[in-house]
Amino acid sequence: MAGFPREAVADRLLSASVRTSYDPVVDIDWSAPPVPGAYWLPPTRSSLYGTPLWDAMTEDQRVELTKHEVASAASAGIWFETILMQMLIRHYYDADPTSRHAQYALTEVADECRHSIMFGRLIEAAGAPVYRAEPFDHLLGRWLKSTATGPQMYAAILIAEEILDSFQREIMADESLQPLIRMVSRIHVVEEARHVRFARDELTRQVEAAGPVALAYSRLVIGRAAYSITRRLVHPRAYAAVGIDPAAGRAAARANPHWRATLRWSAQRIADHLTELGLVAGPGRALWRRAGLVEG
Ligand SMILES: [Fe+2]
Ligand SMILES: [Fe+2]
Repeated sequence: MAGFPREAVADRLLSASVRTSYDPVVDIDWSAPPVPGAYWLPPTRSSLYGTPLWDAMTEDQRVELTKHEVASAASAGIWFETILMQMLIRHYYDADPTSRHAQYALTEVADECRHSIMFGRLIEAAGAPVYRAEPFDHLLGRWLKSTATGPQMYAAILIAEEILDSFQREIMADESLQPLIRMVSRIHVVEEARHVRFARDELTRQVEAAGPVALAYSRLVIGRAAYSITRRLVHPRAYAAVGIDPAAGRAAARANPHWRATLRWSAQRIADHLTELGLVAGPGRALWRRAGLVEG
């Protein structure tokens, strides 16, 4: 079994999961109060940083906005993880349960169960609302989790995981930020590194196996997934928490060159990777452009 690369990859990931896994319910001190005045995101990564709306805010309001932006991203994280868990379970339904590959897929579902509980606790500890997806995106998510297989399934997983990962790597390294969000980020980064390895490996195999029609369809679904994920990162209602009209906040963020640069930065690694695999092309590429993730 170990002679097959797919099995060898899964075997290594299973061993790594045994070595480094967290139980956020007990590994995080949920009762610790937030540190007064500490940001939840580096302020330069706020969607309004550098805009007139940002300049008009007090320091307390800026901290508060980053808290709601984090709660919005955590809400999006729960949404993506629920979709991803169902996709992996559907994949497992057809797999050989004695294979390491199938067993790793289940291990990843177990990781995501703990992550979604962690993000739920984070939102609760922040005292922020759950920022749910818009009804149309909610419906698209339901369709994706019920139907996606092959390249679009693994590409959608990677887009969500790698964009969040870019933010979380920066957060965990920044000692000026709230300790709670740094710890949540650290746990997520460590465990997601395995998921990214698994999905990248599987995606390469799926692209090689797919025919031209399936790939053309995949590019469209992948582009739409990238668009939804990006648009969903900061829920417009997060702006209302600091007294900014949601529509005005969203319009300011979309026009904000700092935020546009942040989005491109967060998606750089995965956009390059999917471009190399030929998955960011044709009509699907227009959706990446509209999402502000690629230029040209
Ligand atoms: Fe996760
Ligand atoms: Fe994951």
